[in-house]
Amino acid sequence: MIKILVLNGPNLNMLGKREPALYGAETLDSIIQGLRKLAGTLGVELEHMQSNEEGVLVSQIQAGREKFDGIILNPAAFTHTSVALRDALQSVTVPCVEVHLTNTSAREEFRHVSLTAGACLGQIMGFGAMGYHLALTGLVQYLKSGRGPGINQ
Ligand code: DQA
Repeated sequence: MIKILVLNGPNLNMLGKREPALYGAETLDSIIQGLRKLAGTLGVELEHMQSNEEGVLVSQIQAGREKFDGIILNPAAFTHTSVALRDALQSVTVPCVEVHLTNTSAREEFRHVSLTAGACLGQIMGFGAMGYHLALTGLVQYLKSGRGPGINQ
C-alpha cells in the first residue's frame, strides 16, 4: 500500500487561532482528519507529524526515505529560510509536494522565495486547507501512474 508522510512546520499547530482571516478557522487536527478520509478513499496510508523545530523536520524527511513513498510538506516559515530542509529533500528520492495555505507570492516580499520548492515535485498554494487534498490526489496519481503528463521531473 502507498504510504504518504504529511509534515507540517512551525506555528501550523496554531491553525484555527492563528490569524484566522489569513489562514482560516479550521484547526490542524480537523484538516488532518479530512485528509485521512481522502486517504481512505484513495486507498493509501497516511502518517502526520507537526513540529516547530527545523531539525525534527529534517530527521523526519531523512526517515521518510525508508518508510514512505511520498511526502506532503508545508514547511511554513522554514520555506523561506531553510537550506537544511532543502538539502534533506534533495538527499532522499521520495517525491515531495509543497503546500501553502496562502498564496505566498501575493504576500510580503520575504515570502516570495521558497528555498524548498526547487527540491519538490510540485507546489500548491493559495487554496487553504483544500491544498492538502489537491496535493494528496496529485501525489497518489503520480505514484500510481509514474510520470504523468505535465510532470517534468
Ligand atoms: C505558510 C506560508 C508561510 O509564509 C508562513 O510562514 C506560514 C504558513 C502557508 O501555509 O501559507 O507559516 O506556509
